[in-house]
Amino acid sequence: KTIPATLIPGDGIGPEIMDAVTEILDAVGAPFAWDKQLAGMAAVDATGNPLPPQTIDSIRRTGLALKSPLTTPVGGGFKSINVTLRQEFGLYANLRPTRTFVPGARFDKIDLVLVRENLEGYYAAMESYIPVGDDPHGIATGAGYNSRAECNRIVRFAFEYAVKHGRKKVTLVHKANILKLLTGLFLEEGRKVAKEYEGRVECNERIVDACAMQLVIDPWQYDVIVTTNLFGDILSDLTAGLVGGLGMAPGANIGEKAAVFEAVHGSAPDIAGKNLANPLALLLAANMMLEHIGRDDLSARIESGIRAVIKKPELLTRDLGGKSGTREFTAALKQHLV
Ligand code: NAI
Ligand code: MG
Repeated sequence: KTIPATLIPGDGIGPEIMDAVTEILDAVGAPFAWDKQLAGMAAVDATGNPLPPQTIDSIRRTGLALKSPLTTPVGGGFKSINVTLRQEFGLYANLRPTRTFVPGARFDKIDLVLVRENLEGYYAAMESYIPVGDDPHGIATGAGYNSRAECNRIVRFAFEYAVKHGRKKVTLVHKANILKLLTGLFLEEGRKVAKEYEGRVECNERIVDACAMQLVIDPWQYDVIVTTNLFGDILSDLTAGLVGGLGMAPGANIGEKAAVFEAVHGSAPDIAGKNLANPLALLLAANMMLEHIGRDDLSARIESGIRAVIKKPELLTRDLGGKSGTREFTAALKQHLV
């Protein structure tokens, strides 16, 4: 039985890494029936709109999308496509696993997951200026909000994820000592949800600044981290840095009716079209998508292939110190699938 899914080849290196990923997915017999749609610059060139209604309709229909990086058009007043997608489909949870694949990065044997609330907090961006004297921008203000319902939902998502993936501990990351209401509500709901999982999943708490320090000193103490929007944005780049940067960092944006899977990196215009791009971040995102539809068997096969090919560093792409181009690497990985 096939599963309809939207495929967005994207901009820059997007089409190259998407070709590599679909080749690997085909090789293991992944059941996706792709509906190819445009977004980003490719869509601007074809339709004048960076996120055409057909693309939105497709995701509404399939509830599932694999998306290559998009070049954000500069100027022209386009709203960020990622933000539009999150709002349109209520993609409230941003899931970013961080694992060591290539040894010798800043830290070894890292295996943690960060869950970021994706819709509320300070990224509501309710900003304004207050004039001071003759400076109309003398003071800049910003407000944020967190709703009880959303705090409950995001923490519950993290605990459910922990249960489903056999993880032992969830850390609530907050700043409730200073932002007593805004992030205090998150902590209050977090503790409430944690009670329901007592005996199954351990729960602890960290203030966000201390968490940042602990992540650099002793990242192994963390298992699943759940936090509000702004803190999650910053900490998830930090966790990617623990294992050597964005080269192998996948992400998922998950809502109740749709889920969008992507690499964390951008469209890398500097190396686009040169057969230099590393497709692993997008491939790991595709693996998360396989797990999302319950095909952990297929993601496990791809993952063992990745781990096998990584043992031969010369087969990797250049960003990981190897000698392969995108196509040569993809062919090598295919040979290491069992
Ligand atoms: P970038 O992530 O595209 O590139 C940063 C550096 O990493 C470049 O030197 C690039 O060559 C390298 N790099 C990135 N991915 C790579 C890969 N798979 N293999 C090998 N090397 C890789 O970030 P940058 O340059 O800031 O942004 C470029 C464009 O991408 C911008 O238009 C930006 O708005 C967009 N972008 C889109 C995202 C998305 O659609 N989710 C996320 C981040 C940026
Ligand atoms: Mg970010």
